[in-house]
Parts: sequence; structure tokens; C-alpha cells
Amino acid sequence: MLQLTLMTNLSDSILLNTLNGRPAERPPFWFMRQAGRVLPSYRQLKEKHSFWQLMKDPKLAAQVTLLPVSDLGVDAAILFSDILVVPYALGMGLEFTDQGPVFDTPLAGMDHPERALRPDPSRLDYIYRAIDEIIRTKPASIPLIGFCGAPLTVLCYMLQGLSRKADFPDAIRFIYTHKTITLQLIDAITELSLEYATEQAARGVSVFQLFETHAGLVPQELYMELFMPAVRKIAQRLRDLQVPFIFFPKGLGTGICKLTPDDCDYLGVDWQTSLIQARQMVHREIGLQGNVDPRLLYAPPESILRELDRLIDFGSCNTNWILNLGHGFLPDTPYESACILANWIKETNWKR
Ligand code: CP3
Repeated sequence: MLQLTLMTNLSDSILLNTLNGRPAERPPFWFMRQAGRVLPSYRQLKEKHSFWQLMKDPKLAAQVTLLPVSDLGVDAAILFSDILVVPYALGMGLEFTDQGPVFDTPLAGMDHPERALRPDPSRLDYIYRAIDEIIRTKPASIPLIGFCGAPLTVLCYMLQGLSRKADFPDAIRFIYTHKTITLQLIDAITELSLEYATEQAARGVSVFQLFETHAGLVPQELYMELFMPAVRKIAQRLRDLQVPFIFFPKGLGTGICKLTPDDCDYLGVDWQTSLIQARQMVHREIGLQGNVDPRLLYAPPESILRELDRLIDFGSCNTNWILNLGHGFLPDTPYESACILANWIKETNWKR
């Protein structure tokens, strides 16, 4: 056993092998929002600690990051943190309440929000300590995925202040009303995100995902004009550091056919989009990730398995595919269903 442990390392990672173009016998898998939510072991920790405590204590953050590896058998760990740590490091007061994250002073109500930001990169230091602890304690063949939020999604929370208004009306109004200031805010988010991503890579994350959960809030032409240049800068930085880059623009719709291999190595496909059509539309050098509907996991086991079986033909023909959800696990997803999904991926004959 000791010998086996010594012999495994990241070159045995099925996720990294797939990302590097080496076909594997099955698709690699991990799940968005796997660290938290669905796991009974996470819920137990949440009874004793707040979300901030779990994030800020490197030992606890490392423990939560690695829970899905032991409990679900996923092929990668994703850093336990949040996309809103960047606005926090830009100087915004942030709380995580039971109803979701809340900023104490949303920017949309200010005349010159760009002047209110006070970037302080040291407000991200606790995350680097967590990464060090994860790298020290993780199984050798399991890569760590780093991440941050993409500029539109992060900006929406900063402007709106509240997560409950899911369509972010004040934020979108601000973007249309104040284009110049919007560009300045995007620059501020992007600069800090570049520094943050660079440091994550330096500490040892070996894959990076950019979460653009709210790409669908603006027309795709506006997205391409205002936000895509910032995405490209972040993509370029990670590529320069030899870190594969996954872009998840949820709701971009037919805009996915405009993406080029300069924009990302892999594209996270949302559950609204047909995976087969995405494969036809997206540049063939871009791999795909996705896109099981997280709500399928509410269905009875036999229905879950029947739906999943439809993926076998796709997985048999497409070796540049990472199996994931089409958005994160929902908080009330039955743990047993998550296990059914994970076990099915490992037990299926992928006919490769
Ligand atoms: O994927 C993972 O498990 C890693 C950790 C992670 C969290 N948030 C932990 C978290 C990641 C990758 C995120 C990303 C994130 N955060 C996104 C993009 C992905 C997505 O799902 O759309 C967004 C939009 C946020 C903002 C955010 N953070 C919201 C809206 C909320 C409240 C609702 C909720 O539970 O998601 C959070 C809090 C948050 N972030 C929790 C966790 C585990 C819940 C804290 C708790 O357990 O009380």
C-alpha cells in the first residue's frame, strides 16, 4: 500500500490526461459545487462552523475541499472558497447569510463606484494558506482545480448587492447607463483576478475554471464587447502558466459558437444547451465539460439511470469531454443520487 502511494502522482490523473489530449478509458468527472451542499459530512461541519470560518481556517478549508474526493470518488478537488472573495479583496463589506451573500454597500446606488474600491490583495492571503494545506494533504493523483468568478457575474453581485434578485435589475440598468464606469469596474475586477489566478497557479492548482454563471443576463453581442476581452486576459495568463483553462459561461446560448481556442481549452456547457449540438457548434479544438441537469438528481434512481445512459454514445465518440453537471449541485440534492451518478460513471462501459 505504501509503495502504491509513493508511485502515484499527477501523471496518473485521468482529468489531467484528458485535458492534455491523452484519451482515457472513461470520461473524467468532478461536480460544480461538490465541496459543500450535497455531502452529509459537510452539513455536519456546517453545524459547528460558519461558511467564513470554514473558508478562512486553512485546515478546515482543506478538509472540506477533499471531502468529495473521499465521499464521492471524484477525479479532482475544487478549492473550497467563493467567487465573491474578489469583491471582498476590492474593499467591499461582505456577509454570507442564510439567504445568501450580501454586500453592505451595493455599488449601483453610488455616483462613482469606481472611486469607492480599495484593492487589498492581502485580503486573499488566507486562501493561499488553504491551497498550501490542500496540496500538502491531498492524494497524490488528485489535481486541485482553482477558480474565480468571471467579470460580469462578479460585477452583478457588486452592483446589486443581493443574491435574491436573481435577474439583477439594478446591475443591468447600471451597465447600460454607465458604460465607461462599467469598463473601469471590469478592469478593477480583472486586475485583481489576474493576480489571484497567478498566485493560485504558483501554489499548485493544476486546472482553473472561470465561473460566468450570469452570462445570460445580457445579449451575447454586449457580452462579447464588454466582458470577453477580460475573459481572454485571464485565459491567456493561465495558459502562459501552463494551467488548462475551463470557461463556464452559463446562458451564453448560441454565443458559444463564437469562442475560439484562444478563449479556452474546455467549455463548460450549461444544462439548457444540448451537448450534442454544442459539440457541433463549438470549435473542434475546444473540449467540452458538462452538462447533467442537477435537478435530474431529484428523480427516482431508475429515471436517473435511464437519462444517464443517453450519454454513453457521446462519451464513446468524444474523448475530449469532462463529465460534470450543467450547473452546481442544488442545496437539497439527495446525497444518494449524487452517489448513483458518481458510481454510474465509474461502472459504465464507455466503449472506448
Ligand atoms: O464548487 C465548489 O464546491 C467549490 C466552492 C464554491 C462555492 N461557491 C462555495 C459556496 C464555488 C466554486 C462557488 C462559486 C460561486 N459562488 C458561484 C458560481 C457558481 C454557481 O453555482 O453559480 C456563485 C454565483 C457564487 C455566489 C454565492 N456564494 C451564492 C449565490 C451563495 C449562496 C447560495 C449558495 O449556497 O450557493 C454563496 C455561498 C456559498 N458558496 C456556499 C458554498 C458552499 C454556501 C454556504 C453555506 O454552506 O451556507
